[in-house]
Amino acid sequence: MTAAQLTASRAGALSGRVRAPGDKSISHRALILGALASGETSIEGLLEGDDVLRTAHAMRAFGAEVVPLGQGRWRVLGHGGFAEPADVVDCGNAGTGVRLIMGAAAGFDMAATFTGDESLRGRPMRRVLKPLGEMGATWAARTGDRLPLTIRGGNLRRVSYRLPEPSAQVKSAVLLAALNAQGGAEVVEPEPTRDHTERMLRAFGATVEVVDDIAARRISIAGGQRLKGTHVQVPGDPSSAAFPLVAALVTPGSEVTVEGVLLNPLRTGLFETLREMGADLTVDTAREAGGERVGDVTARHSALHGVIVPPDRAPSMIDEYPILAVAAAFADGPTVMRGLAELRVKESDRIALMAAGLAACGVGVEEEPEGLTVVGAARGNHGVRGGGRVATRGDHRIAMSHLVLGLASDAPVTVDEPGMIATSFPGFVELMRGLGGEIAEVSPQGPGERR
Ligand code: S3P
Repeated sequence: MTAAQLTASRAGALSGRVRAPGDKSISHRALILGALASGETSIEGLLEGDDVLRTAHAMRAFGAEVVPLGQGRWRVLGHGGFAEPADVVDCGNAGTGVRLIMGAAAGFDMAATFTGDESLRGRPMRRVLKPLGEMGATWAARTGDRLPLTIRGGNLRRVSYRLPEPSAQVKSAVLLAALNAQGGAEVVEPEPTRDHTERMLRAFGATVEVVDDIAARRISIAGGQRLKGTHVQVPGDPSSAAFPLVAALVTPGSEVTVEGVLLNPLRTGLFETLREMGADLTVDTAREAGGERVGDVTARHSALHGVIVPPDRAPSMIDEYPILAVAAAFADGPTVMRGLAELRVKESDRIALMAAGLAACGVGVEEEPEGLTVVGAARGNHGVRGGGRVATRGDHRIAMSHLVLGLASDAPVTVDEPGMIATSFPGFVELMRGLGGEIAEVSPQGPGERR
């Protein structure tokens, strides 16, 4: 049977209060650190999406007991280290999962073979293999630096590694390997990236030192540190909250609140940018939960205008450019996004797919090697035409972004492969319908066969 497609059409105003699913980055880390630690880790609010479930499965393969208790509550019983897996570890679509686990596994004297789905097998792994190699791990792949590949670790030595690209995944892989390296490691970040690994390592009892000097952030960790199981409260994912919030901003008459959203400043670049565009976006009841700042974020329909997004903001909103491009389509004037080389090596080439999808929906776009300019439709008071059939290449964020576009454009927008949405946002369609969004399943043959 061919997978159904999804079509989003204009209905009325969106309204309501919802909870975002658990943060994907923090969910992966909670499982991995829980498995590396000694004793029991209890997790609340875990994202039960395909990516994270793969990591749960992988942690079992490395010897931990990982038990779902229902409704986002999980128990992980770690044995203070990884054991050699009996089989190939398949991380599905998850770049974060595989790169962090490769780092953690490299600390142990064993071989582990990793693979993933077609998208993940096409993504570069040299970025983690290079620093792990400098620490003494060896690896072999069938093709270049792509999965499937086997890493042999153990007996690691200290590295001081300057990140060539701003990547929290690479930083985290080195820090996790360093736990079992003689002399630990230092990671130098020219641009700070999400710091969930550093925060969570501390919560598991490790010492991590962070020093900001003028040109870089230096993160140091000593080797030979033992982690101790703890409790992890996973906040709502701002990268997922972005979809209902932007949908409210661009749909006339709307007001939507997403509760319990992670507000770590290294993740909130999108909210800052939307405010600069004129968005009515407010935060209530900001509070500390599980070592992170969270709050309830409300978006009301707003007249947006185009902006130039500072390229150095990219690490704090790297996964949000697709949905920002949708907000920009409804704004007055152009929105210029630059410094986005990393977007070409995500679950898909997100610059190319957003440019193609928006163009298919009548939005003016200009693609650059490392950037995207979107010309908003609000000038001249005409709306976004919509009507496109969008190829998502199995990328969850490309699918959700275009569905949001369809909720506010003149003609319905259809996306293929919607099943991939479950990698990060299970229940997305139901949640959007609950807010008043019109999203229907259609068979690939055409809208005549709408279910
Ligand atoms: C993530 C880091 C980012 C981000 C990804 C999650 C993480 O990737 O795009 O969705 O949890 O560390 P990069 O490290 O490639 O920038």
